[in-house]
Amino acid sequence: MTMHLNEVDAGKLEQLQGKVINDVAGSLGLLMAYIGDKLDLYSALLEISPASSRELADSTGMDERYLREWLSANAAAGYVNYDAASGKFSLSPEQAVIFASEGHPACMQGFFQAVMSVYIDEPKLTEVFRSGQGLPWREHSPCLFCGTERFFRPMYAMNLIDVWLPALDGVREKLEAGARVADIGCGHGSSTILMAKAFPNSTFHGFDFHEPSIEHARERARAAGVASNTIFEVVTAKEYPGKNYDLVTIFDALHDMGDPVGAASHVASTLADGGTLMLVEPFAGDSLEENLHPLGQIYYSFSTMVCVPASKSQKVGLGLGAQAGQKRLTEVLNAAGFGQVRRAATTPTNLVLEAKI
Ligand SMILES: C[S@@+](CC[C@H](N)C(=O)[O-])C[C@H]1O[C@@H](n2cnc3c(N)ncnc32)[C@H](O)[C@@H]1O
Repeated sequence: MTMHLNEVDAGKLEQLQGKVINDVAGSLGLLMAYIGDKLDLYSALLEISPASSRELADSTGMDERYLREWLSANAAAGYVNYDAASGKFSLSPEQAVIFASEGHPACMQGFFQAVMSVYIDEPKLTEVFRSGQGLPWREHSPCLFCGTERFFRPMYAMNLIDVWLPALDGVREKLEAGARVADIGCGHGSSTILMAKAFPNSTFHGFDFHEPSIEHARERARAAGVASNTIFEVVTAKEYPGKNYDLVTIFDALHDMGDPVGAASHVASTLADGGTLMLVEPFAGDSLEENLHPLGQIYYSFSTMVCVPASKSQKVGLGLGAQAGQKRLTEVLNAAGFGQVRRAATTPTNLVLEAKI
């Protein structure tokens, strides 16, 4: 079908232009926010708010001219407030939560960091479209590993101990009494450490094939005072050691694996009788049309740039994608030997499945 420019509907064009301009503004706002985070500018502004660019420069030692332009961009974005009468900038409580409250579930800085990582990695990602090759997790900008942890950790802190684990049949009681747990694809170990803190009678094994992440997890566990009931090891999901785990968890990692069926089969072979697999995956409907909204756009975009390339870089290279949905995930788990799969909990961004053999 050929398209003629005279078929363009002016009203629809204007509407789409407006949307895309907003997107361009957002992409630049995100970069401003990322720079502000790296230089600690939002926290500095919060401390002396309201402040002029000169006052912010004096308190941070940064260049006043750059700060003035950065503050102006932020004010235009609605990320900071500007008072024309005094020429001063400030942060509202809500702006402070989004831009300057590390660890708050609504703080977006980790999210921005993860987005920046894929901008940095763009040349490699464009190339894999041509070659059809994968891009291993380890070959991404380190921004991705830190951003992922910073973004996910507060979500886990809010839900894991108080909502998700109690939603599993009989698991909380086992953890309180003393259970063996494996956390597969644990990354920086934020989920492993939260569980280890909450259930000191249980032992937690964090497994991931990315060595720098495991080193980070070990440091984090020491700092959190849970080194005695956590063990972190560099190993793939299909080869991790040990048997008789009462609980195996996989947080936002199954779809990144090359062989999710093989990994889940290995999980099945390491569970104790009556053991449980808790699978946490990005929330998604079962069809593309159910996922056509901003959150779906975010997930499909990360999936294009991180999850599918990670999976294609491994053996089998299934490329499940970050928007697989419950039906497809259940098929994967059934194929791996899990006969009982049910939805245990959801958040707007997470789907939590309980699987038993
Ligand atoms: C999106 S990150 C999630 C990390 C962590 N679970 C979290 O929620 O913060 C995916 C993790 O899966 C790990 N991973 C991917 N494929 C793996 C495999 N085949 N075996 C072990 N780890 C794997 C990556 O190294 C990465 O740490």
